Amino acid sequence: MFQQLKQRFLSQTGEDDTKLNTKEIDLIRETWSHLRSDIAGFKTFGADLFIVFFQHYPDYQKQFKSFKDVPISFSTVSMQTMRYNKKLLAHGTYVMYTLSMIVDNLTNPETLDQMLKRFARNHYRRRIQITAFERLRDIFIVQLAERLGPELFGKKATIAWRKVFDYILNALDQMDSNKEMSSFSPNELTILQKVWYNITRTQSNVFGTNLFLRLFELHSNYLPMFGFPTTTCLKDETFRGCAKLAAHGANVMYALNMVFDNLDDLEMVDELLSKLVHSHVRRGIEPQMFDDIVQPFADVMDGIRSQFDSNEVEIIERAFMFVKQRIQQLYEEVDAADLFDDDSSHSSIDATII
Ligand code: HEM
Ligand code: HEM
Repeated sequence: MFQQLKQRFLSQTGEDDTKLNTKEIDLIRETWSHLRSDIAGFKTFGADLFIVFFQHYPDYQKQFKSFKDVPISFSTVSMQTMRYNKKLLAHGTYVMYTLSMIVDNLTNPETLDQMLKRFARNHYRRRIQITAFERLRDIFIVQLAERLGPELFGKKATIAWRKVFDYILNALDQMDSNKEMSSFSPNELTILQKVWYNITRTQSNVFGTNLFLRLFELHSNYLPMFGFPTTTCLKDETFRGCAKLAAHGANVMYALNMVFDNLDDLEMVDELLSKLVHSHVRRGIEPQMFDDIVQPFADVMDGIRSQFDSNEVEIIERAFMFVKQRIQQLYEEVDAADLFDDDSSHSSIDATII
């Protein structure tokens, strides 16, 4: 949506006026530093913002598990109760410091881009609509103008702040265009879950073994990662029948089975895949290596294609590509701190499926 608006604007003016110019960046920083100069007020600004937001649009409060049931009305008493609800206060504080991070990085486009991607993903998977951000933006601008007064916050500041939100909306919009990959109709999901479970249950040893044999045929450099010497002869029957090889394949099959069974809940999919990403990061597996499993997967599917309807195969391949792409996106979100916090001896047990 935003892309379309931008496109239309560019074709009319020939220049990209959706971007902040230097003066506007200065203006944003100035308004923000005024707001920050009263640190107590700064910290409650976010909670107040969301209270007003929920007063205007009560339905959005239901999306917040932690304070969806806190009563809210126009009465001062309940506003006070709501305001001092620690969970709401914490969320508001998070919002303010995220905005601070955005403000401080307006001149570092690459870092900003990564931040916004992460932010967009976190909200996208919670199914927060772009309209919610547009509505919050409008309330935010009114609240900011009220807090700072017309001298510090005039028309130019309003335009500049709308552009900051346009950056945010743009990141969300791009997330939205990835949506097609993950959207399966209830009927497609039923087919996917039934067919894949069937393959997993009856053919995981053969499918799994063939999957890895094909991977090693195309990329023998991966052999040592799985504990096999690079000199392994792939045609050797002992190797082909090796339980370890079959077990690796089965791990992948059941992991996909688990993810496919949860495809109606993207938040859950992300939780499951994050565990997988952690266990692969720990083994030194890099995100682009997941591209190398695509061809072997397609080849093994080709081998059993005749057993299924063409639409069943198409759904499986689409679901596999979605999972692969999501794994790669989640790699960007794994930060070193998380890894160091983990106790690797436990997490490898948690992450093992069979
Ligand atoms: C500029 C606007 C916003 C900023 C900077 C922002 C920032 C954040 C941050 C940093 C978090 C916590 C980190 C995380 O778990 O991802 C978060 C959580 C969340 N946000 Fe936003 N957010 C904004 C707007 C919105 C809007 C408009 C909605 C929906 C109506 C929303 C819904 C949520 C929900 C439901 C959570 C999870 C809260 C919880 O589980 O306690 N956010 N947001
Ligand atoms: C969609 C693709 C993939 C899925 C679903 C998947 C899933 C899994 C699962 C469930 C395990 C065992 C549990 C664990 O320790 O986390 C595992 C182990 C492993 N995976 Fe993957 N994996 C995939 C792709 C890859 C790729 C592309 C590589 C490397 C090129 C790789 C390398 C490994 C290694 C080295 C192990 C450990 C094997 C061992 O126990 O010796 N995986 N994988």
